Amino acid sequence: MNTLNHLAIIMDGNGRWAKNRTLIRTDGHKKGADTVENIAIYCAKNGIKNLTLYAFSTENWKRPKSEVDFLLNLLLKFIKLKENLFLENSIRFHTIGDLSPFSTQLKNAIANLKDKTKDNSRLNLILAINYGSQNEIVRAVNSALANGVKIDEKSISSHLDSADFGDVDLMIRTGGEHRLSNFLLWQSSYAELAFTPTLWPDFDTKELDEIIAKFKITHRKFGAI
Ligand code: FPP
Repeated sequence: MNTLNHLAIIMDGNGRWAKNRTLIRTDGHKKGADTVENIAIYCAKNGIKNLTLYAFSTENWKRPKSEVDFLLNLLLKFIKLKENLFLENSIRFHTIGDLSPFSTQLKNAIANLKDKTKDNSRLNLILAINYGSQNEIVRAVNSALANGVKIDEKSISSHLDSADFGDVDLMIRTGGEHRLSNFLLWQSSYAELAFTPTLWPDFDTKELDEIIAKFKITHRKFGAI
């Protein structure tokens, strides 16, 4: 049976979920935040150590300003108001991505939740925000060079934002598309990939359970036979 140490999810389909109900796109994001909560609790209760969620990509700035503002405000509310989710389930909060363009208010809230949850040990919940994998790799190489370190696979891995969480074992994308969209490309070299047509707001623990059950019995070869 394979161990699931690091689960990564591309949460896609919020906009379509809302459109299907003649709601506005941002209603889909709001419902998507509830799914984040359910999936995080499931992971904390089921022995998964690291869960990385793609919440805001470096490309998402191209969306209309009103949607970008809504997403960043939703993120701020989640971080400020969901402290109990983290404390009751022993979830430690982390981020990957370049936080520098965010408001001081959002940066402070992120730093505060990281600090408040630093002793929690069941699950690392890692939000990828203003995250792009190519950008992360470039920053990692530059920081390894600045530290005078020889560039090789190990040194690049150890300078990535996600260095503490290990390679991705299972990558799930909801919403029916079959692409990785610049998410954890280096870390997913040997990840098992699962694509589901389910839109993120409808994704539930039953479906996650089924995907994980299949992952556990997959023969992972890592290039060997
Ligand atoms: C993709 O759906 C989703 C996003 C770009 C944002 C993900 C955000 C959330 C799940 C909600 C907030 C998260 C947290 C952590 C509070 P899309 O808008 O591209 O959907 P579409 O493909 O149907 O248009």
